[in-house]
Amino acid sequence: MPATLTHQVFPTAEDASAALATEIETLVRVRASENRPVVLGLATGSTPIRLYSELAQLHRMGLSFANVITFNLDEYLGLERSHAESYWQFMHFSLFDHLDIPPENIHIPDGTIADEDLASYCAGYEAAIREAGGIDLQVLGIGHNGHIGFNEPGSLPEVATHVTSLNEITIRDAARAFGGAEFVPTRAITMGVRTILDARRVVLMAFGTSKAQVVSEALTSEVTADLPATYLHNHQDATFYLDEEAASMLSQG
Ligand code: GLP
Repeated sequence: MPATLTHQVFPTAEDASAALATEIETLVRVRASENRPVVLGLATGSTPIRLYSELAQLHRMGLSFANVITFNLDEYLGLERSHAESYWQFMHFSLFDHLDIPPENIHIPDGTIADEDLASYCAGYEAAIREAGGIDLQVLGIGHNGHIGFNEPGSLPEVATHVTSLNEITIRDAARAFGGAEFVPTRAITMGVRTILDARRVVLMAFGTSKAQVVSEALTSEVTADLPATYLHNHQDATFYLDEEAASMLSQG
């Protein structure tokens, strides 16, 4: 039976986001007092938006993020940074424009890399994570099909940063933002399951009733490639931060 994957249920998504923001604040302060950097792995999607608002608020109240290094999970292939739906835009609009992280400390996979250069680019992304000292805390969301980052069903656990094809559920979920499924990129660069499992701590956030079923399956299922979030059972310090709606299909007690 899966044993180590824990979960915490908060009354609301705001509460869960505030709790994670406080944890990040503590990490940033402790490392700053030691003159050391903090390496955060960051996610996109609607789920972390409240967390990012909380972090921006902490910065407005005086917390410096100058010692923070970030690595984003993924980016669509074929999108320029300037594209409204690029994760580069999303991250700057919702977080980086509001913090004092030095631009050179921010890493988001580049969606414009030519096919022939992708393998070395992905290897370089992994090397940059290693050179930064590894990820201290990886923030995750979860797709309706159980994906983490863009590690879709069928993803293998030993794969590091790589190029992947998006699954039809993922494309359907993204269709509205892109104005139609035909405009959603079909490929992405994503950290692999290996990269995520190498983080020292992982917090997966899931909010709302639409995530209740996949959350319940991820927490109770055996580890399976069919549901990549189950790989987190193999991590020593992974936890799900849920609101009551996302936890509504978990059995009591
Ligand atoms: C995208 C991202 C994932 C994210 C997922 C869920 O597919 N690549 O990292 O977890 O969306 O998005 P949302 O939080 O909007 O439900």
